[in-house]
Amino acid sequence: MEIIPEIRRLRPSATLAINELVVKKRKKGQKIYHMGFGESPFPVHDRIKRALCTHADKKYYSPTQGFFALRKQISSFYKEVFNLEFKPKQVIVALGSKSLIFHTIAALDGPLLLPTPSWVSYQHQAYLVHKKVIYIETSPESSYLLTPSSLLSSIEKTTLDLSRQKLLLLNYPNNPTGQSYSKEQLKELVPILRKHNIIVISDEIYSLISYNNHEHHSLAEYYPEGTIITGGFSKDRSLGGYRLGVLLLPKRNDDVKRSILSIISEIWSSASSPIQYAAIDAYYPDEELLAYIQICTRIHGMMTNYVYNRLKEAGISCVSPKGGFYLFPNWNDKKELLKKMDLTTSKKLAKFLLKKYNLASLPGSEFGMPKKNLCLRLSTVDYNGSLVLNEYKERASAIDKNPSEFVNEFAPNLVGACDILKEFTMSLNSE
Ligand SMILES: Cc1ncc(COP(=O)(O)O)c(C=O)c1O
Repeated sequence: MEIIPEIRRLRPSATLAINELVVKKRKKGQKIYHMGFGESPFPVHDRIKRALCTHADKKYYSPTQGFFALRKQISSFYKEVFNLEFKPKQVIVALGSKSLIFHTIAALDGPLLLPTPSWVSYQHQAYLVHKKVIYIETSPESSYLLTPSSLLSSIEKTTLDLSRQKLLLLNYPNNPTGQSYSKEQLKELVPILRKHNIIVISDEIYSLISYNNHEHHSLAEYYPEGTIITGGFSKDRSLGGYRLGVLLLPKRNDDVKRSILSIISEIWSSASSPIQYAAIDAYYPDEELLAYIQICTRIHGMMTNYVYNRLKEAGISCVSPKGGFYLFPNWNDKKELLKKMDLTTSKKLAKFLLKKYNLASLPGSEFGMPKKNLCLRLSTVDYNGSLVLNEYKERASAIDKNPSEFVNEFAPNLVGACDILKEFTMSLNSE
């Protein structure tokens, strides 16, 4: 069978591929330290589980935009939790925010400005719909954040008609870097976004997983007319497999809504009905649900901080995290030493760590970084979520006083992965 050449060039998403590889190796009995895949490990909240069982008989198709009751609940949730006003008619639910981001990229005219490093899928989604991507490389010195000057110079460098609409993908807290924007940093971008006709797809899927004194603010607070928020419960409520995502449109954009809904209707029809009913409970922001999200977030913060501190102790360069469950260290200051081992690209470095130490990670090049930038994305979720959650609920304040002791006992794979990274990095210094 012949395949369309552009499609032949695509590879399965790197994050999913590394996970499948690790699962295969583990099935064969191999010990693997898995820092390659970012799936939140906590059990489904009981109330959501019960709601899903109760609604198993909702076998009919839903409206393409999603059930009104769910959209209304999501609109209340955003009001209560983020103080953002979105009417139910501005909300679309579909199969994961991944599909909603793709359909938005497909529907909106103009090239895509993409700060790098960035989540693996954006660039491939743009490629699938022949959209031009303009990469804006960020650096650890600016915490991998887009600055007004880097945004401006990337626009000025292009040969584009400056008045033409452009899209920008901003993801914060960020996968892969763990960084996020303060409200001042967001505000600084707004005059440029307005002046240059830039519509922002604001991927805020990790918004509730903010820690280290970082308070999440949405760009929609300061640029409501040009910000499309995407989010969902895959990360903060550990429900990735439910495949439900949310998109919030600015007011008075019925034509954009119609276009995105038309695409959804021709491809997916709608999100699954029982999942949507369960989602009504998952978006009911009472104390119990918010406490569950908060505890999971504290654990993510504890685990990610643990790994960050261990990296620093081992002399590995990394920016301190603000949210999510990823770190993006680099070995660029050890380039010459690594060259002697023929570890000249991030891909070679990731392969080496997997082969020699059974440590799975993802190379920075998968996130749009130059091949020779020796950065890796490490996720910090390789532990038993149920066990850790139960233990933490029992004795949170004691654990908070001595998190390392808890991590040592309950997240041995994370500890082992840090030992490996330390051993590897120290061995370079003695080369
Ligand atoms: C930055 C980012 N955006 C979006 C998604 C997609 O999430 P979902 O499709 O489960 O809503 C992910 C999942 O890994 C992600 O890391």
